[in-house]
Amino acid sequence: MAFSDYRTALVTGASAGIGAAIVENFVAHGLTVHALSRNRARLEALAARTGCIAHVVDVTDLAAIEALVKPLEPDVLVNNAGVSRAGDIATMDAFGVDEQVDVNLRAALHLIRLTLPGMMARDRGHIVNITSIAGLYHFGGNTVYHATKAAMHMVSRQTRVAAYGRRVRVTEIVPGRAETEIFAKVIGDAERAQKQFYDGFESLKVEDVADAVAYALSTPRHVNIGQIEIMPTLQVPGGLNFEKRTD
Ligand SMILES: NC(=O)c1ccc[n+]([C@@H]2O[C@H](COP(=O)([O-])OP(=O)(O)OC[C@H]3O[C@@H](n4cnc5c(N)ncnc54)[C@H](OP(=O)(O)O)[C@@H]3O)[C@@H](O)[C@H]2O)c1
Repeated sequence: MAFSDYRTALVTGASAGIGAAIVENFVAHGLTVHALSRNRARLEALAARTGCIAHVVDVTDLAAIEALVKPLEPDVLVNNAGVSRAGDIATMDAFGVDEQVDVNLRAALHLIRLTLPGMMARDRGHIVNITSIAGLYHFGGNTVYHATKAAMHMVSRQTRVAAYGRRVRVTEIVPGRAETEIFAKVIGDAERAQKQFYDGFESLKVEDVADAVAYALSTPRHVNIGQIEIMPTLQVPGGLNFEKRTD
């Protein structure tokens, strides 16, 4: 299915995982795709493979983002770049708090701030935020990651309000566990992450998430797909802890 009248897209976190799959999908749908992340070698390989345009930029570098984004005037922005760090708020170090807030929330807010006015003026645009089930459900104790994703859930809703009256669509994609490098980065050991989080589990493939994004883009322009929660069939959120104490 065609992607409405969209011509250009900007995808953050494009060097790996879900972001790279979204780039591949968008290029296959005929979009000119600007792919952004820090890893030059991977981005250049992606560009050689797909024809996307590589931008080696750290999303937390506001000056670089401003210089890059303003002239691009993308029809589609995908806020996908994300980091997670192990630990809850009692055990998290200062870097872990700041990095997750800066990448998952602050950078996405700036990118929306920089692209939404142009989309509204052109009466054409689509903002896609890749959040997480961590933003909707509580489990596992990673306070900061959950907080940033919950914030992006509300950013998605409020961006709809900001774009009221214009043909600018906003979609929040809420994935459960997908097979990427994110857990290897969290625990710093790819082999252990593979065993602990993926071996024996029927996780989402990155293409499953990219297909959900593509569905939202492919609907007619009078249709806004606000939220898609996409989880492995065998993964279910929920549960309740109740510590028994006798002292
Ligand atoms: N995998 C899952 O189970 C899962 C579930 C729910 C939600 N998500 C979300 O899905 C999104 C993609 O995650 P993934 O699983 O595909 O993870 P991944 O394989 O670790 O990829 C993360 C991407 O983000 C980029 N990135 C990180 N920090 C950046 C920075 N400062 N500037 C620019 N780019 C940066 C990385 O590129 P560079 O290192 O090259 O910069 C990489 O391309 C994230 O928002 C994540 O929270 C993932």
